[in-house]
Amino acid sequence: MTEFRSVKGKVAIVTGSARGIGKGIAETLASEGVNVVMADKLPLVKESFDEIKEKYPEIDGFAVELDVSDEAAIKDLVEKTVEKFGKLDIMANNAGMHLETGNVWETEEAQIDKIIGVNFKGIFFGCKYAAKQMMKQKSGSIVNTGSFFGKVGHAGSATYGASKGAVHTMTQALALEMAPYNVNVNALCPGLAASEMHWAFVEADAKERGITFDEMKEVELNEIPLHRYGYGHDYAGAIMWLASQSGSYCTGQLININGGLDFT
Ligand SMILES: NC(=O)c1ccc[n+]([C@@H]2O[C@H](COP(=O)([O-])OP(=O)(O)OC[C@H]3O[C@@H](n4cnc5c(N)ncnc54)[C@H](O)[C@@H]3O)[C@@H](O)[C@H]2O)c1
Repeated sequence: MTEFRSVKGKVAIVTGSARGIGKGIAETLASEGVNVVMADKLPLVKESFDEIKEKYPEIDGFAVELDVSDEAAIKDLVEKTVEKFGKLDIMANNAGMHLETGNVWETEEAQIDKIIGVNFKGIFFGCKYAAKQMMKQKSGSIVNTGSFFGKVGHAGSATYGASKGAVHTMTQALALEMAPYNVNVNALCPGLAASEMHWAFVEADAKERGITFDEMKEVELNEIPLHRYGYGHDYAGAIMWLASQSGSYCTGQLININGGLDFT
């Protein structure tokens, strides 16, 4: 691979990487020679890191158990990473959650606080401390996980959608703020991705319609032009492009990685 497209030797933090999209991102980055620091609230993150390290022993990194809505923990995560590697090249703010809140009139304040705390504040803190480091380096790439639910409203997901919409506009604001420092900031917008988070929805929808889990999956797949769910490696592909010289002219964008599900 030419220097133009290479990410080998770079250092990445991936939040929400114990499982799902984040784990797939960390694993794909490692397969391309990126050193990975994996953070998640689940203790499983340590096992996930060990699994990746065993597969790609040439990379370095570590795992941290933390809650992304804890600002001090995120500050510490970035500091520990820079202490070990002397730099931070990629900040993949991926951790997120979804709660069944029902309609707006049924939503409790505590649910709003929880979702905004993790999905918006968690990503905001990741951006804040990565930006402070990347400004000093005058290099780096911040990639946030948004959602197609953050672009268009969906009944029953007002709070989740708003949290992702907030991530989108914050991404654009930070892209402008970081442009003078040679740092690009973008958000990836998954459509329907293969993950524990999504399977819970498939199960609930299947129950509501009185069909099986597999039948519900087929209903969804028929809505996706590429007829498959998104995987961590699909998002990692975009992250590696954005972090390499080849993607460095792309900033402030909300990039759909959704198999053609929608074009918003
Ligand atoms: N799966 C989809 O269809 C889909 C669609 C659009 C956007 N997304 C977004 O993709 C991202 C990854 O989700 P996923 O589908 O892999 O779900 P997932 O639930 O399988 O994985 C999310 C990970 O984030 C971690 N996490 C959650 N809250 C955390 C917190 N407070 N602190 C630290 N870690 C925390 C979880 O423990 C988990 O490991 C999320 O931001 C999600 O909103 C997913």
